This record gives sequence, C-alpha cells and structure tokens, in this order.
Amino acid sequence: MCQNFQNPLIDNRTIEVELYPAITRIFKHNIASVGQMCESSLRLLSIAKRSLVILIETPNRQKYIFKARLEPNLYALFKSAYELLISRQSDTNLKVHALDMSCKEFPYPYVITSFVEGEVKFSWDEETHLLHAQTLAKLHRKTYPSYRFYGGQASTVMCIQNLFEGCVYYWRQNQPNLFLESFVNKTIDHLMSEFHLYKVAFRAKTEFSMVHGDAHNQNIIITTGAVNLIDWESAYTGDGAIDFAKLYWPFSTAWQHHINDSVKNAVISEYLSIYPDPYFAERVEAWTLFSMFFSYLDHSLFCSTHTETNKVEYQNRMFAKNKIERYFTEKWSC
Ligand SMILES: Nc1ncnc2c1ncn2[C@@H]1O[C@H](COP(=O)(O)OP(=O)(O)O)[C@@H](O)[C@H]1O
Ligand SMILES: [Mg+2]
Repeated sequence: MCQNFQNPLIDNRTIEVELYPAITRIFKHNIASVGQMCESSLRLLSIAKRSLVILIETPNRQKYIFKARLEPNLYALFKSAYELLISRQSDTNLKVHALDMSCKEFPYPYVITSFVEGEVKFSWDEETHLLHAQTLAKLHRKTYPSYRFYGGQASTVMCIQNLFEGCVYYWRQNQPNLFLESFVNKTIDHLMSEFHLYKVAFRAKTEFSMVHGDAHNQNIIITTGAVNLIDWESAYTGDGAIDFAKLYWPFSTAWQHHINDSVKNAVISEYLSIYPDPYFAERVEAWTLFSMFFSYLDHSLFCSTHTETNKVEYQNRMFAKNKIERYFTEKWSC
C-alpha cells in the first residue's frame, strides 16, 4: 500500500506513464539478469515531498529499492550520504547498486539498493535493543578525524552549543513562522544553558564516526537475529551518540522507544563493550534534548500544512509534538 501521498507535483499517472518505464530501462542497464519486467514488478511504497520509494521485484524474485530524491536543495546531501555508505558497505546490510545524480535517464537523482526482508516493529524486546547497540557500535567504531557541521567540515573539538545555534539559524531563516511561538524561544534559551553543562563531555570527543543520522524505529527493519538500518540519506561523519538519541526518548512515539533505566544501562554497556567511548552516555543525553527540539519544529511544520493528506502521520506527529512540549515545559516549569 502506498503511504503518505504528499507530492503535489507528481501524480499517480505521471508515476505509471513516465517514471515506471524509465525505471524499467534503468534496471535493464544496471542490474544483470533482470529479464522481462512487467507492470506489477514495480510498486510504489511511499512518496513524500522529499522522496519517492519504489519496490522492484525481478522475474527471478530478487527485490530492490529504487529511491529518488525530489527536493533539489537536498541533492548534495543525498550524494554525500550515499557515497559515504558506499565506502562502508561491508559494515552495513545495505548494498548500493547504483547512485546516479546526472538526471539524464531519470528526472531526479536516484539510488538503487538491496531490499531488506523483515519488518518495522513498534515494540522491541531487550534482545533487539542489545542487537541494535551492537549494530551501531560496529558502525561507529571505525573513526574519522573530522566531522560535518552546517556548511562545512571541522576537525576541532565538537561544540554542541555552536551546532545547536547553527541549526536554529537555519530553521529561523527558512521557517520564521515557527519562531513566533513563545514556547520555542524559551526552549532555545533553556537549551543553550543546558548544553553548556555538557562542555566537558564534548571536549573529550576528538574522533568521529559514520553516523546514520536518521536512526528512528521506522528506519530500522528487524529480521531474526539482525537489526538492519535503511534510509541512509542523512548519513555523515559526526558523533555516533546521536544515533541513540534519535531512537530513545523519555517517552515513546511512533518513531522513538522509551526504555527503562536498567535496559538503557544494559544497551549502553553493550555498545561500550564494542566501542569504548568516554562520556558517551552524557552526550546521548545532550543529543536527546537536541533531537527532541528539532523534531518539535519538524512536526509543527508538518502539522501546519498537512491536516488532510495523511491522517495517521498527522496524528503521530501531533502526539509527538504535544509530548515534547509537555516534557520541556515540565523540565523547566516554563
Ligand atoms: N532497503 C529497504 N528494504 C526494505 N524496505 C525498504 C527499504 N528502503 C525503504 N523501504 C521501505 O520503504 C519505506 C520508505 O523508505 P525510506 O527510505 O525510509 O523513505 P523516507 O525517506 O520517505 O523515510 C520504508 O519505511 C520501508 O517500508
Ligand atoms: Mg524513512
């Protein structure tokens, strides 16, 4: 079933009449042993403002994912994220078969990856949490000398206050209306002071990792004995602690799990046993606040423009937004 049909520029007819034949041609070029593909070989999994995801099944029952990037201002990030993934394919479960930014054969940049069998699970047992910690530790333990920040690369010590200010600046330039809310401005002030408390934890961070960057539970596919990350287009080099912070929050949502302290400690110990990292737990705390704040802005933006198009996503985002607001309001009694 197609999820979130929210792109006003591409309708179903365009997909079937123009895009499907182009994708079929691309497959014949890129993937050996494709054979005769018929209409039912291609299935639209999701389309949103930013991306189009199509599942392809070849006659010999191999499955692939074709993902196109629809938003031009994000093309460069898409390219660098998938190039990073290609350089680390042996450390992940996802094989990239083609990455094409030329827009010659297809109107948008695209990537073809393997399909991962399994499912998104909204409730995880402790074993799955531990397996997930192992998966991330193995991804993060290969280190890089520099990290990416807004608009550049740095090899100096990471400062979460500067990163926070940079991201706030970006949002303020692009979505000034969101900053009319007094809750948002108060929260920014509180977070700036709070992040000051994590200075030592961030100063100690001198090596960086390949970060998935969007590792919430809807981008994690569970199979027996494995936790697989998909949707790598936010990958970059940075602090791996953020991959935990985007998944574990003080309350659960459609994208985040809430785990009790004993499971959380076990998960962090599991991670540190594979990739020792001083102050990891502290940085997870700081990034959790960071990710909650920007998720609030993202959900606010979505909810202000998508009331009708996708009710389930609207409700999930509204629920998360209200929870974040309540959490921050209680935290600082503001
Ligand atoms: N490699 C993959 N293997 C299996 N399913 C996938 C894969 N990539 C995407 N999907 C399916 O398509 C959906 C949307 O893909 P995703 O890359 O997460 O797009 P978006 O950027 O819109 O979140 C996923 O929730 C999943 O159901
Ligand atoms: Mg996704």
